[in-house]
Amino acid sequence: METGGGLNEAKRWVEELVGRAARVASGAELSKLREAAGDRGSPLSSLYRSMKAIDPALRPEVGRQLQELRSQLDSALEAASAAVLAQEVEATLEAERDDVGGYLCRSRYEGIGSLHLITMTRMELEDIFVALGYAVTEGPEVESEWNNFEALNIPKFHPARASQDSFFLDFGDEESTLLRTHTSPVQIRLMQAQKPPIYAIAPGRVYRRDTPDARHTPAFHQIEALVVDEGISFANLKATIESFTSAYFGPSIKARLRPAYFPFTEPSAEFEITCTICGGSGCRTCSGTGWIELGGSGMVHPKVFEAVGIDPEVYSGFAFGFGIDRLAQMRAGLPDMRVLPENDLRILAQFRGRR
Ligand code: PHE
Repeated sequence: METGGGLNEAKRWVEELVGRAARVASGAELSKLREAAGDRGSPLSSLYRSMKAIDPALRPEVGRQLQELRSQLDSALEAASAAVLAQEVEATLEAERDDVGGYLCRSRYEGIGSLHLITMTRMELEDIFVALGYAVTEGPEVESEWNNFEALNIPKFHPARASQDSFFLDFGDEESTLLRTHTSPVQIRLMQAQKPPIYAIAPGRVYRRDTPDARHTPAFHQIEALVVDEGISFANLKATIESFTSAYFGPSIKARLRPAYFPFTEPSAEFEITCTICGGSGCRTCSGTGWIELGGSGMVHPKVFEAVGIDPEVYSGFAFGFGIDRLAQMRAGLPDMRVLPENDLRILAQFRGRR
């Protein structure tokens, strides 16, 4: 019969497509298959079109078989499309498996580790001060309220003591403890532990309840410098600040002192350097001023000498403290300091091998 050939051909064609559907491995293959299945010139479509010409007695049976083929083909396509979708989901999950938050990502980072930019900066600064004859020392991050404030002539009502600025761990009548808000308590520890002459720096981490922004993070690092000897003057302080900033930044960066107030030094000054992000013309990072504050400084206050039992008639001294993170930020040209504690290896890796 004339339709027998057509029906067999359509069956073979459907079988072949069903076979292909079972092996489909990509979205592209699937759409090719769909195209082939919808082809108006296919044996199945031709058979549909020739139904009119078929003997009416045979028509129901041929129609039933046609329906059967059609639905075999449809379900094979459906299964193939579900399989492709599952493969795609699987592939995406696999590709993004290690990309938690976009960093700390094993598959993208295959190098050996290196020192953190802040550690490298601290070590470099230590070298500069060691060359100037300073000893390197450290103090604890959990400090007594006395060392952090009282002994430094910071009275109870001073705003720096308020809980907005400090992380207190323990409130006690006798002795409260807190995460130190600066490295200055190491001045107290140094002067209690040894007699002058003292030429020392104390690097370390400090904490403040600051809202993070381009220049502030609630945990950061400072270096404290303390010099106590006979005949130490403000000129010595200024010269020391100038020599360490130009040793670190190079001669093109200027440093300046501005009168300021710190309870534990008198006179006091803040020191600033040319903003390295904009070269001094003013930008978002330096709030348009062209200068970046690095730290505070001044001559050790007689009240501080008194608290540690050093005779201010015999000795004088200077102290200064500055942010390591800020220095690292300035020399590396990082517009935002918040990237430093984030530890994104894609950023940190750019400073590898500097040390
Ligand atoms: N401790 C001060 C601060 O963190 C800085 C400072 C240190 C000022 C030493 C004077 C002397 O802001």
